[in-house]
Amino acid sequence: MATRGSQWFLWIASILLIAVVSQGQLTTDFYDSTCPQAATIVKQKVDEIVDADKGMAAGLMRLHFHDCFVRGCDGSVLLISTNTTLAEKEALINNGSLRGFEHIDDIKMELECACPGVVSCADILAMVARDATVKLGGLSWPVFLGRIDGRSSVADEVNTSLPFRTYNFSQLVATFAKVGLDTKDMIVLSGGHSIGQLHCGAFFERLWDFQGQNITDPSMDPEFAESLKAQCPRDNPLLFKGADSTNATFDAVYYLDLLTRKGLMDSDVALMSDPLGVEYAIKAVQDPYSFLFEFGMAMIKMGNIPASD
Ligand code: HEM
Repeated sequence: MATRGSQWFLWIASILLIAVVSQGQLTTDFYDSTCPQAATIVKQKVDEIVDADKGMAAGLMRLHFHDCFVRGCDGSVLLISTNTTLAEKEALINNGSLRGFEHIDDIKMELECACPGVVSCADILAMVARDATVKLGGLSWPVFLGRIDGRSSVADEVNTSLPFRTYNFSQLVATFAKVGLDTKDMIVLSGGHSIGQLHCGAFFERLWDFQGQNITDPSMDPEFAESLKAQCPRDNPLLFKGADSTNATFDAVYYLDLLTRKGLMDSDVALMSDPLGVEYAIKAVQDPYSFLFEFGMAMIKMGNIPASD
């Protein structure tokens, strides 16, 4: 297991590398002169929100992912539909599933009072994602800022940009590759499912109708499957289940669940179908700190997906 000292070295070295190589015009000090209190305001608000509702941390963190994968990190996930165009938030994957919009509005309002017209919504989502993760036990990471908000949001683009819950390993790799993220990023970012909740419907087929045969996926741990069936009865796909077995803490237990055949969605379990996924899961379980660190690095990379318009 790596020592904390060597990991701090890695942490600093990686930050320097990322800062020099891949950040383009985004910088950590973007608001230092125009809105120096921005990060403090965001953190205070996220702390309040998550103190009142721990589960909301997951919803807030997920918003940044759903923003960045569709037309880049441009805040488009927050826009509402127009007379002619259905917005991203109305797409099937998002509607009734994404949560926390009202809190982002609230944070934006607070920032507008402090520094009118300065902080972009896309940057708010990036800061909020970091602060929400940290609040549940994740390691902090530097958030690079200076994103410009887009003006378009198109529901149809969600289906061609975000991964589906039924995807296998190569489909997941391909979806992440489209936005410049590699296989390891995909495996590490899937660890976002360490927190939050899933509708029972998100893994319905594995539990009740595997390959249309009216059976439970035989790869699922049988005892786990039985307890899951009690929590997710066949006739109620709208109930919720924790995304992993410690879903109020951001940790590496998601990977332990996968290794012990207690994964939930096809896309989670798919990580165990490839040696790279298995290797990473073992490493994350043996050295949870390395996962927490690498998650932050991968979030920086995801947060750097350029806006497409
Ligand atoms: C790898 C491909 C991914 C797929 C197929 C996927 C799919 C899903 C689905 C279907 C849900 C449940 C929605 C519901 O039941 O309403 C969910 C929840 C969630 N996802 Fe993902 N996701 C992926 C990657 C990620 C990434 C990269 C992150 C963050 C970095 C993330 C963060 C979350 C969180 C935090 C939740 C729980 C949300 C809540 O409690 O409100 N997911 N995901």
